[in-house]
Amino acid sequence: DIFRNAGAGANWVAGEIANLIKRKAAAGEQCILGLATGATPIGVYTELVRMHKEEALSFKNVITFNLDEYYPMLNGSAQSYNFYMDDVLFNHIDIPRDQVHVPNGEIDKEGIFNYCKQYEALIDSFGGIDLQILGIGRTGHIGFNEPGSQLDSQTRLIMLDALTRRDAAKDFNGLTKVPKAAITMGVGTIFKAKRVLLMAWGEGKASIVKKALEESQCDAVPASYLQRHRDVKFVLDVPAASEL
Ligand code: GLP
Repeated sequence: DIFRNAGAGANWVAGEIANLIKRKAAAGEQCILGLATGATPIGVYTELVRMHKEEALSFKNVITFNLDEYYPMLNGSAQSYNFYMDDVLFNHIDIPRDQVHVPNGEIDKEGIFNYCKQYEALIDSFGGIDLQILGIGRTGHIGFNEPGSQLDSQTRLIMLDALTRRDAAKDFNGLTKVPKAAITMGVGTIFKAKRVLLMAWGEGKASIVKKALEESQCDAVPASYLQRHRDVKFVLDVPAASEL
């Protein structure tokens, strides 16, 4: 769907999340959300915080799993996705801390394989993700599933693409400080989500959005795999949709 602007698109996504949380709460069920970072979803989190404060939207029945985290990365570092999530969402809502999961960039190298397996198993133990929100990187990555990621890939350590590191350089005060790797849910992990909403704003995303939607599915553009998901929507503003 194409929205008038990013704010309208983000508010729509926040509304979908809030409706699901309320529907699950009314049924006495937990709501399992897959969350994303980066600039794209900020408007969604701002709106959810507003709904919590002004409309008493409660997150007590919500379990969250974030897509990814840089590696290595100190959780307290301002560039970490752990810090970002606390800062924009978790510190401002009533979600119990033990219901929040963001990959841990502090895990030591020896433990990382098992850590990733456990993260995947934990998602499965909740019956999978009900609603996954995504941004898209200019390499076509979803989470940090860079080109070459396979459809059945699971949570794992991945080397970041050069373009992704260049795009992140502004957040890290220079390319050399950008971590070389990340922990990310796999394409397969994302695929198990019952519903997927991918957001993209601005003309900088127009060409990759076109490739993801209109070119045949291939591992060169991991987001293109979403064409096969049974319940996926691209939520775009006018500039991001301008090459379709
Ligand atoms: C980041 C994240 C992705 C995000 C993408 C786009 O590196 N790992 O989850 O979707 O790149 O970022 P932005 O929303 O800032 O454009």
